[in-house]
Amino acid sequence: MDILVIGGGGREHAIVWALSKSPKAGTIYCAPGNAGIAQIAEVAPIAVHEFEQLKTFAQEKAVGLVVVGPDDPLADGIVDVFEEAGIPVFGPRKNAAEIEGSKTFMKDLLHKYNIPTAAYEKFDDYEQALAYLRSQQAPIVVKADGLAAGKGVTVAHTLEEAELALRDIMQSKVFGEAGSRVVIEEFLEGQEMSILAFVDGETVKPMSAAQDHKPAYDGDLGPNTGGMGTYSPLPHISDSIIEEAIETIIKPTAKAMVSEGRPFRGVLFAGLMITPDGKPKTIEFNARFGDPETQVVLPRLKTDLLEVFLAAVNGTLADLTLEWSDEAAVCVILASGGYPASYPKGLVISGLDAEDSSSIVFHAGTALDGEGRMVTNGGRVLGVVGLGSDIASARAKAYERAEQITFEGKQFRTDIAAKALI
Ligand code: AMP
Ligand code: GLY
Repeated sequence: MDILVIGGGGREHAIVWALSKSPKAGTIYCAPGNAGIAQIAEVAPIAVHEFEQLKTFAQEKAVGLVVVGPDDPLADGIVDVFEEAGIPVFGPRKNAAEIEGSKTFMKDLLHKYNIPTAAYEKFDDYEQALAYLRSQQAPIVVKADGLAAGKGVTVAHTLEEAELALRDIMQSKVFGEAGSRVVIEEFLEGQEMSILAFVDGETVKPMSAAQDHKPAYDGDLGPNTGGMGTYSPLPHISDSIIEEAIETIIKPTAKAMVSEGRPFRGVLFAGLMITPDGKPKTIEFNARFGDPETQVVLPRLKTDLLEVFLAAVNGTLADLTLEWSDEAAVCVILASGGYPASYPKGLVISGLDAEDSSSIVFHAGTALDGEGRMVTNGGRVLGVVGLGSDIASARAKAYERAEQITFEGKQFRTDIAAKALI
């Protein structure tokens, strides 16, 4: 079966890589892809928001399955477009993707169904939001309602900082319409974890848990990024807490979406906080695979990913058992100097050639230049994954490989997965 994967980051490289191992997979197309994806798939220069062109491409190539990676096209209804054309597609429809696309929708849903999350208030009026904020105490969290490329959340340590965030969102409209509403939320203390699950209606097949590192610099300092590194599994978090998160948060949310007439099909990704009393609470839901969570989760999945997607699309996910490797995986993101602020592009990357069965290099922002050289082409450039019998050995492998790869200004955190070693 030929397949079209939509997106062009490290997450999509990991998806294409996992699909390419399936004996059932024919040609894998990826739009727009990147230079690393182009080594294992046929890339097509169509942007993720060009729905009509993507649909025509899928029809011309007669693909048997479309898989959508990023959040924006999901929120804008790309799945509905493929479904209307009768093309099998893995991902949530627009009305289900709203669980990520609108924080007020997500918070109201969780509140209605008594699913654990931080206390909150929502506002579409700046003065009312400001008055409420002034009645609260720091730390407090201010969130733009809509998608803001991962930058719409401010964890404010002072009320001044919170007020500034509120002004930026609602008055300066730095995130455009995404900021016409805000959620002001209780600050949750604790340890974060991500649980991704394959979901079809009420059927939930959780993936192995992972942890991301969002701040740019070591020690969780600096500005937030899309994610600087991940690891899976989480040896320092007990199975009972993970089980509780699945039973009290992910399954009830899937059920709630069905009750609301918005059945979710795709990957439901819960960002969770394990509060000091050991109870998981929801920070956010995403309607897609995480990036870079996918880069550590899929290499550990022993079940054929294509079979999983097809089961979800065909309504047989409940019959499937996911199998996981005992190996640990650690992903270290190599970013361009300056990221997450402005950064140069087009810098030559070397050291990519070493073949190694215990590491994988997923490309996020790469391209070939006019002379056919691999060059940087984004903020997050590469995700270097180390595999090993435990986190310590996977981590050592990832860093060994990360050191071998060079480009001018290369920036990475040196403490990915350090928490899991203590
Ligand atoms: P989000 O974009 O919703 O994932 O939020 C970005 C980051 O902000 C999360 O990964 C958390 O580290 C932090 N965050 C969001 N909401 C809260 C909260 N209520 N309490 C503490 N930290 C939060
Ligand atoms: N790594 C966080 C995300 O994909 O949203």
